[in-house]
Amino acid sequence: MSITKPDLSVTLGPLKLQNPLMTSSGTFGYGQEYSELFDLNSLGGIVVKGLSVNPKTGNPPPRIVETACGMLNAIGLANMGLKAFVEKIVPWLAELTTRVVVNIYGHTIDDYRAVAEGLKGIDAVSALEVNISCPNVECGGMVFGTDPKVAAQVTEQVLKIADKPVIVKLSPNVTDIRVMARAVEGAGAHVISLINAPTGMAVDIKTRRPKLANVSGGLTGPAIRPIALHMVHQVVRTVKIPVIGIGGIMNYQDALEFFIVGARAVQVGTANFINPRTALNIVEDLERYCIENGIAAITDIIGTLDLPPWK
Ligand SMILES: Cc1cc2nc3c(=O)[nH]c(=O)nc-3n(C[C@H](O)[C@H](O)[C@H](O)COP(=O)(O)O)c2cc1C
Repeated sequence: MSITKPDLSVTLGPLKLQNPLMTSSGTFGYGQEYSELFDLNSLGGIVVKGLSVNPKTGNPPPRIVETACGMLNAIGLANMGLKAFVEKIVPWLAELTTRVVVNIYGHTIDDYRAVAEGLKGIDAVSALEVNISCPNVECGGMVFGTDPKVAAQVTEQVLKIADKPVIVKLSPNVTDIRVMARAVEGAGAHVISLINAPTGMAVDIKTRRPKLANVSGGLTGPAIRPIALHMVHQVVRTVKIPVIGIGGIMNYQDALEFFIVGARAVQVGTANFINPRTALNIVEDLERYCIENGIAAITDIIGTLDLPPWK
């Protein structure tokens, strides 16, 4: 039987997406500029930029450097803060039919709690993504992202307050990602997303200065895809909760790699800076791929990795 309309919908615990393509936090703003280029409602979801309780100006420039196969950034999680977000952005987001996920972060557990509290009861927000990584900010960020006990505590506290599914976003800057995944699953996280940016740096050989004013930053783009894929593979084999794959996804073939290892959805980040329609293109290409290969549902591909020894 030929397939005319494959089912691209996926379920991530309590969160349902019409297709498995999301845009990643910090690379898609609040979606407003992008909405002029295409219909955001064609995506599975958008993850808006990291939100903190108070407004934040971020790090001094230069904050972005291009690297081979990627970029380094040290934006420092600049954002307008909870109050302005709720007043100015939420009414706009409420018009969207796609899932809107708000990425939240804090310097202390109380900060995380305060953001979760402020987003309570807002129907326009479908889920929270808790960023426990913040690689470029002078704060307890890395402690949240690298100490399993602290990661579990943040997760627990956010879950106590939140009235929506909670996704915990893991940092790759750890010795064993599985320890972190187990910790946040044990604390009750509904979903895990990974990876955030591995830390890197670049030096200008003329001035002998670091290219980023912050000295180091987060490396993103195709350069990190093999690291991300490996970590997603490790995590899906460790936890029972659903996993969202992130890292260097540029096209549908890249996305398929993540689905095959077991990610139930993916997020597109750096690729948005090259082609803002990347996530949409991937949705369309996946649909075509499924039709051409007689695949009725995208879930038929998820977790189908064929590991050695092969017969
Ligand atoms: C400019 C920039 C800003 C980012 N800001 C955030 C952020 O606010 N919160 C967060 O959790 N991740 C942030 N990230 C990380 C991305 O969401 C994503 O995890 C990372 O870029 C890896 O995916 P990619 O290789 O597809 O870009 C940012 C990345 C970039 C490039």
